[in-house]
Amino acid sequence: MFDKATLGRFESLQTPFYYYDLSLLKETLEKYTKQIKKYGYHAHYALKANADERILGIIKDAGLGADCVSGNEVALALKLGFAPEKIVYAGVGKSDAEIITALKGDIFAFNCESIPEIEVINGLAASLGKVARISLRINPDIDAHTHKYISTGRAQDKFGISQWMFDSVLETINKSANIKLIGLHFHVGSQITDLSVFKLLCERIDVLQKWFTDKGVKIENLNLGGGLGIDYSDPDTAPIADFEGYFNIIAKNLKVSPGQKIHFEPGRAIVAQCGSLISRVLYVKMGKGKKFAILDAGMNDLIRPALYQASHKLQNITSSGRVLKYDVVGPICESSDRFGKNIAMPLTRRGDFVAIRSAGAYGQVMGMRYNQKDLAPQYYSE
Ligand code: LLP
Repeated sequence: MFDKATLGRFESLQTPFYYYDLSLLKETLEKYTKQIKKYGYHAHYALKANADERILGIIKDAGLGADCVSGNEVALALKLGFAPEKIVYAGVGKSDAEIITALKGDIFAFNCESIPEIEVINGLAASLGKVARISLRINPDIDAHTHKYISTGRAQDKFGISQWMFDSVLETINKSANIKLIGLHFHVGSQITDLSVFKLLCERIDVLQKWFTDKGVKIENLNLGGGLGIDYSDPDTAPIADFEGYFNIIAKNLKVSPGQKIHFEPGRAIVAQCGSLISRVLYVKMGKGKKFAILDAGMNDLIRPALYQASHKLQNITSSGRVLKYDVVGPICESSDRFGKNIAMPLTRRGDFVAIRSAGAYGQVMGMRYNQKDLAPQYYSE
């Protein structure tokens, strides 16, 4: 990913910064859309993973719609030219102003997560003289076998509507003149690498949608959310996720009724591998029985290791010296500001570039100004 010319370009840039390989992004999208087309599915890219405008432009041009979780994401998707009929909007806490943005934008659907939310959307839609299309986000009570902070489909999680509430939800919808139920939505978690989770999801969907069809409610759309994981330990061998295997499992296990449309909301699997956080080593410091490589990038630039104990591949892309072990840390005043412990890297010196790989998803978007640090800017391969 980092040839001589790229490294030469980095020399003149102020670190830390995000670097995006747009040709890998395009290749990933090609492979993804090939599968989507093969099955006639619909895809809405989850903006929350990376909302860089240039990246969004490429994703839009590849034909994907947008999956949003805030009014600002809806507004951004509309501004960048995503077709309103390809925009979906989820989230347990949509504010009135955000709902109004989405109603005025005439988006495809709200993915609704509670009865009070449906009531508020109904009221706001009535005041604007509109009918809001909604899908019910269902909590299928499935363990996605991923980090607890990004598991969203278990009964104890705050997300979605559980089966015991279906009767009252339907009652609410039936008395809401400005609501039209168009489908069911699911998203059970993120960075899911155990593909049997998706098989289980398909089986649960079958049981859950039957509850509705038995009551004479037609489910025109099924949205299976996102969640497909990527290989953080080895981003180079297979930089593009196994979309073929993933969609094969879905197609084999999901029962689709005639005319029903199937939707997905990929985030991480589209953008993670095309991004790296590029930093320079500020100091190499001796600790008790160890060496610290102190970077100029920290948890304020990439919070995943501190928040989810995630490990991203760390690569000294300057040095080719003999391999030693380092604890690789950032400059922030927290002990959780650590990218890796006991990491094997070639002899590392002040000024070396260290690339923190697979940082295209949930990296720059989760950046913050803790310690009054500047937000890392971005550069592109093209
Ligand atoms: N749809 C919904 C409703 C979601 O909540 C999410 C992600 C996605 C789709 C996209 O999921 P993906 O394909 O990216 O797994 N910050 C965490 C990940 C949070 C995921 C939140 N929801 C991380 O850095 O691992």
